[in-house]
Amino acid sequence: MPSSPQPPLDFDPLGPAFAADPHASYRRLRDLGRPYYYAPEDTWMLTRYADVRALALDETMLRSVDGLVSPEEQRALQVKAGMHDMPYHERYVQQNMLDIEGQKHDRQRKLVFRDFTPALVERQRPYIQALVDRLLGPLIETGHFDFVGDFAAHVPGHVIGHILGVPEADSPQLRRWSEHVVRYYNVGRTIEQKQQAETAVREFHAYLSGMIAERHKRPTDDLMSRLVTHEKAGRTDADETISLAMLILMAGHGSTIDVLGSGLHSLLRFPDQHERLRADPGLMRSAVHEMFRFESPLPYFHRFSTREALVAGQRFPRGTRFGLLYGAANRDPEQFENADHFDVGRQPVRHIAFGGGAHFCLGNHLARLDMEIIFTALNQRLRSIQLREEPTYKRGLSVRGPQALQIEVFPA
Ligand code: HEM
Repeated sequence: MPSSPQPPLDFDPLGPAFAADPHASYRRLRDLGRPYYYAPEDTWMLTRYADVRALALDETMLRSVDGLVSPEEQRALQVKAGMHDMPYHERYVQQNMLDIEGQKHDRQRKLVFRDFTPALVERQRPYIQALVDRLLGPLIETGHFDFVGDFAAHVPGHVIGHILGVPEADSPQLRRWSEHVVRYYNVGRTIEQKQQAETAVREFHAYLSGMIAERHKRPTDDLMSRLVTHEKAGRTDADETISLAMLILMAGHGSTIDVLGSGLHSLLRFPDQHERLRADPGLMRSAVHEMFRFESPLPYFHRFSTREALVAGQRFPRGTRFGLLYGAANRDPEQFENADHFDVGRQPVRHIAFGGGAHFCLGNHLARLDMEIIFTALNQRLRSIQLREEPTYKRGLSVRGPQALQIEVFPA
């Protein structure tokens, strides 16, 4: 642990000022030049790109304390984090692929990895394109709409649902469940949010159980049927099938909606960059990466050290919890030239918005394909987009995205 006391610093990730501009806080944290201890989470926050990346890649830094501490200590940590007394959540969320390690993690990841490779993801293009065209057409006719609530909110869930084999009509319900589960990961968790998260997982579980039973009887060509085949062959068990399907459905939802909203907002805040992208569609790939760098939609994850560790030049004992602030690392001026400038042609954009190492985001190609199709459609169909009011961003440390984005559109 650092021996000298920590200088006082204004860091309130739950407040409105942080939601309005987290980057000012991130800058203060980075400028400290050492990890910052955030007591409410009992976590040492890392904000410099080099430190965050090193920890994400370090195989001795784990997401779970399973096997690291005694069962009693583990239980105490779970209680401290408010992750106890929620049996469905403990069984299907706290044990999902994102929160397990080693062989068990690698075995599960291997089962679904192929479905999210660039070649397989690319096969979704016609479906995504048709969906985007169908949703966008009537909205453009109205002349103004909430880009987040009326449009973005409907795309990623339908796409990931389509891959798994969920009927389109059920997508809004899945989104509500996902939101309730994800919200409980934010800092400042409340009892009410805990109950909502547990209820969501219980209902989600019942829904997926029905779907899985159906696939056992009548397999189709969707990912859920492939998961059932793995289960029948003994490569997963029933709990893993549910938790894996739940994780993929949840992970595929909110974060893409958030970065669609913040991505368009960035283009509107930097009109010269918007013009540049419209004039040169070949920049779409780098523009989308830059959107992830500039406002990383999942800015905060954690790791536990499994041994005494030297982090950012300081010694920390085994069992220390570290916060990987991907959102801050992606604005580190030591890594990115002119880091606070949104540059659609930035090359290369070695951002860390999708994490790194064993848990590197499985859905990154899919999320980027959604974005590329959507921003291409906007460029082709609209001559201009105007912001109708400044958006308010969601509060907290774990998510970053506008609540709504009211725009006025002018067809090409
Ligand atoms: C805006 C879009 C997305 C962002 C920013 C994002 C970000 C991330 C990050 C940072 C991690 C690693 C967490 C850590 O370091 O502890 C991760 C893991 C994961 N993501 Fe994504 N994600 C996105 C979309 C998706 C989509 C569309 C899917 C759909 C399949 C997905 C599935 C997953 C899964 C399954 C993992 C866990 C991988 C593992 O544990 O091996 N993500 N994501």
